Amino acid sequence: MKLSDFLNQSCANLNHAGQLSPLILSIADAGKQIAVLVAKGKLAGVTNKLDSINVQGEAQMQLDISSHDIFIDCLSTTKLVVGAVSEELASPYYFDGYAVDAPYLVCFDPLDGSSNVAFDGVVGSIFSVLPAPLNAERSEAMFLQQGIHQIAAGYVLYGPATMLVITLGAGTHAFTLDPETQVFELTHPDLQIPAHYPEFAINASRQRFWEAPMQQYIADCIAGEEGVRQCNFNMRWMASMVADIHRILMRGGVFLYPKDRQVTDRAGRLRLLYEVNPMSMLIEQAGGKASTGRASVLGLQPTQIHQRVPAILGSIQEVDLIEQYHQR
Ligand code: F6P
Repeated sequence: MKLSDFLNQSCANLNHAGQLSPLILSIADAGKQIAVLVAKGKLAGVTNKLDSINVQGEAQMQLDISSHDIFIDCLSTTKLVVGAVSEELASPYYFDGYAVDAPYLVCFDPLDGSSNVAFDGVVGSIFSVLPAPLNAERSEAMFLQQGIHQIAAGYVLYGPATMLVITLGAGTHAFTLDPETQVFELTHPDLQIPAHYPEFAINASRQRFWEAPMQQYIADCIAGEEGVRQCNFNMRWMASMVADIHRILMRGGVFLYPKDRQVTDRAGRLRLLYEVNPMSMLIEQAGGKASTGRASVLGLQPTQIHQRVPAILGSIQEVDLIEQYHQR
């Protein structure tokens, strides 16, 4: 089934029936354009380093900026979006000429894991769709909504195949881009994450900065059959949240970027509005769970548009157990 047919069918029962479909199609278009740039690699000059630093303090690459511009262009054609928060901009971007009753706000990371581009590693784009408050003043406050209010969320994975994974609040579904027809086809309907799968994803080089519960949880996994878990665990780390979450949606396990005491002004590394919230919605719509270790991600009240939070996402039994380590 083509993405457009899937959207027509799925949106028929939603309040946003007539509008959500063109919005998601515009994001799918952005994904196709970015996929072409990523695939051209050095031939398109995408790895060229710029002199600029983004709001996160990270050096920008040409591909970061191009991907951001593509997202803004595609979203603006819909006239359905009041404003957007992008990883690449310090303040929200407000669209010119949107319809008076434009219903959406979009938060996006145009190129997540972009350091992987230097060696042809997997990268992705992440997005979250929020309701635009009626008659609200344009301000950052509009975007500070709990994840439970997301209308839709998803990502595009630029891997061996380009894939679009979305939720509209009724399951998580994956589409594969046919490179010949340039059409996203539904290939993985209604993903279901197994309740337990013995595999964790964490940047273990930061172990000395983790809190005690995380130290203990990982030590118990590594102890394997001889330890309290009585089970051998595997470890994977792609350094690209999209790639790691994609694997977990496909086969289970847990993704962890926990609280890290090295940088005391940050609660974690990953950004709530355009990384952790959309990924949490996808994970929970596939039967998994998303937590900070102490609270549900989707219930967090954001206080800043670029806020960072701890992220523990994946198989439900494992995330429950990690919360118990924190309670103890
Ligand atoms: O900024 C986001 C990100 O690149 C994620 O995609 C990824 O999971 C993480 O950071 C990688 O972190 P690290 O550099 O610690 O491996």
